[in-house]
Amino acid sequence: MTALRSLKGVGYDVDQLRREFPILGQQVNGKPLAYLDNGASTQRPQSVLAAVNHYETHLHANVHRGVHTLSQLATDAFEGARERVRRFLNAASTREIVFTRGTTEAINLVAQSWGRSNLGPDDEIIVSALEHHANLVPWQMAAAATGARLRVVPIDEHGQLRLGAFLELLNDRTRLVAMTHVSNALGTVVPIERVIDAAHHVGVPVLIDGAQAVAHLPVDVRALGCDFYCFSGHKLYGPTGIGVLYGRAELLDAMPPWQGGGDMIRTVTFERSTWNDLPYKFEAGTPNMSGAIGLAAAMDFLEALGIEHAAAHEHELLNAATAALMRIPGVHIHGTAADKAAVLSFTLKGVHPHDLGTILDHEGVAIRAGHHCAMPLMELLGLPATARASFACYNTMAEVEQLDAAVRKAVEVFH
Ligand code: ALA
Repeated sequence: MTALRSLKGVGYDVDQLRREFPILGQQVNGKPLAYLDNGASTQRPQSVLAAVNHYETHLHANVHRGVHTLSQLATDAFEGARERVRRFLNAASTREIVFTRGTTEAINLVAQSWGRSNLGPDDEIIVSALEHHANLVPWQMAAAATGARLRVVPIDEHGQLRLGAFLELLNDRTRLVAMTHVSNALGTVVPIERVIDAAHHVGVPVLIDGAQAVAHLPVDVRALGCDFYCFSGHKLYGPTGIGVLYGRAELLDAMPPWQGGGDMIRTVTFERSTWNDLPYKFEAGTPNMSGAIGLAAAMDFLEALGIEHAAAHEHELLNAATAALMRIPGVHIHGTAADKAAVLSFTLKGVHPHDLGTILDHEGVAIRAGHHCAMPLMELLGLPATARASFACYNTMAEVEQLDAAVRKAVEVFH
């Protein structure tokens, strides 16, 4: 189980916290908004908005290029954000922190660069049945280009990874394990420590998709020993369009660039180019400076709050919501892993999740309804879609009650 700190005595004041998020104070369809779609994207606190605004208002110029003062200030702010990310992940060096557009781009970078130069016919990439499209489609594309193939670790009836099956799939053709840390559709926390240890035991590198994890679990890439770790800013109380690829320097050094352009080069002639040092070799073109600065502010926000405290609060909400929905006739909960992040996927008998989502929206409750960008998993579960409530640090017990009442309303409407 993920270690959860008790909230007793830590003064976790959710009402005060919500004042940092003015967007949460609004009404939707004449009802107070209950924003329970945090798995798709979290809201940003004032401190993140202020950091972005300060950068745009006072510091903006292009980075790594200018001798003028503003360019140097912008470069310092951008590189300061990289150092903030390094500390957040406890990476050994900022050379190992590559800014990307998000998790999807980070995984595509590894699939295109590492994948195309390390995979060949009959090589195998192991993924799990829990993966969302971002950690599946790039590997399918790399496999199609190289003749490699994907092997999929099955899950049990609770949505937990079958570790025994994973160990059986590891073999001398395995070149990479690419696995999610937390399932976006079911909330399962994958025991990645065991996955990484087993893969490393047979010399196989591991990429972890941390999109759903970083806002809810402390992540220490050196303690985990993973080779790559990817995540997005916008699921971590930061801006959209910014994300991170952490890669061990030894691996990144050996990888070719995947996009060409400014900043990623050292020298260019009409005939050929040579590459810049890490991490710039992987950052072609003008980067998203304000996004990186907003992401750094989001990390300051989350660490000041205490990620374990936020997780403990979210678990209280998850437990209460699970208990409430289980009491409603016709509700079925999907994903009952022993170790779960605060994601609650459910269906209501006889009601399509999209209709359920629409009724909930009329009651002010924002959830996601659909396949959660995990169509193969939905097919495996025999479902076209689910309704999903996903909780964040700022959600409240009143919102859980609002969710419960809204689902009961849907029962009334449809039955
Ligand atoms: N992957 C995001 C989600 O789970 C978009 O909703």
